[in-house]
Amino acid sequence: MKFFAVLALCIVGAIASPLTADEASLVQSSWKAVSHNEVEILAAVFAAYPDIQNKFSQFAGKDLASIKDTGAFATHATRIVSFLSEVIALSGNTSNAAAVNSLVSKLGDDHKARGVSAAQFGEFRTALVAYLQANVSWGDNVAAAWNKALDNTFAIVVPHIQNKFSQFAGKDLASIKDTGAFATHATRIVSFLSEVIALSGNDSNAAAVNSLVSKLGDDHKARGVSAAQFGEFRTALVAYLQANVSWGDNVAAAWNKALDNTFAIVVPRL
Ligand SMILES: *[C@@H]1O[C@H](CO)[C@@H](O)[C@H](O)[C@H]1NC(C)=O
Ligand SMILES: *[C@@H]1O[C@H](CO)[C@@H](O)[C@H](O)[C@H]1NC(C)=O
Ligand SMILES: *[C@@H]1O[C@H](CO)[C@@H](O)[C@H](O)[C@H]1NC(C)=O
Ligand SMILES: *[C@@H]1O[C@H](CO)[C@@H](O)[C@H](O)[C@H]1NC(C)=O
Repeated sequence: MKFFAVLALCIVGAIASPLTADEASLVQSSWKAVSHNEVEILAAVFAAYPDIQNKFSQFAGKDLASIKDTGAFATHATRIVSFLSEVIALSGNTSNAAAVNSLVSKLGDDHKARGVSAAQFGEFRTALVAYLQANVSWGDNVAAAWNKALDNTFAIVVPHIQNKFSQFAGKDLASIKDTGAFATHATRIVSFLSEVIALSGNDSNAAAVNSLVSKLGDDHKARGVSAAQFGEFRTALVAYLQANVSWGDNVAAAWNKALDNTFAIVVPRL
């Protein structure tokens, strides 16, 4: 089970340092200067990143000028700005840390369910900061406070978006490793590998292997797993084998060929 420990370590986010009261007050006062411009803020984000606009089914592919003054646009803009206002109001007070964590974790889960990527959260951040720079009094201290606030938010959101196991997202590995849920997932993954490995080396099983591995690719695509993440899994698996089995050149070459064959089926399906 050590291998899963290593893998899971890679997906647990960093612990952020909370905003001081002074930093929070810089973020709060600069936000107050613009937070009544909900429509303009969302329009600035969409103008800079049409791929974000396209995540909203009712706005996808439409001309920004034609949607900007609609009620639906105002509704979404208000929802997004109100969320930011809520989190910003809670910042700079350690008593609110759990409330912020829960709000921002839910934000991550909701957006993951809608197929929003961490890169798109990064785009939103870039557009928001550009908007602030253009519309508030933007000194180095304000920039640093916003940067820290956004870093803290991203430290919570990104593991929820990227972590492919929603029940483990953002959690300390030591706290999940001995749970039944962890054992269930570990057994499922290892059993799948055992099944495919048992079928290998016999041409009569080629169709069965192809079908199992194709389904693996399709299932993981549906959960937003990338080819790069399959590559990470492979790297961690091989490192685990190297450390724990008798690993000669012939063993390495056989595993490499087996994994290349598997990837040749999985990767085109992602
Ligand atoms: C910090 O938050 C707690 C709980 O929300 C609240 O009772 C307290 O008054 C806040 N402290 C400050 C300095 O705002
Ligand atoms: C915010 O900045 C943008 C870009 O400079 C500008 O077009 C817009 O008018 C500003 N908004 C307000 C409310 O001043
Ligand atoms: C190869 O697989 C077929 C079908 O699963 C099986 O009948 C046969 O015994 C296997 N051959 C070897 C050498 O294991
Ligand atoms: C597998 O290798 C890792 C890394 O060297 C080691 O920590 C772990 O104890 C090994 N597992 C077993 C069951 O020997």
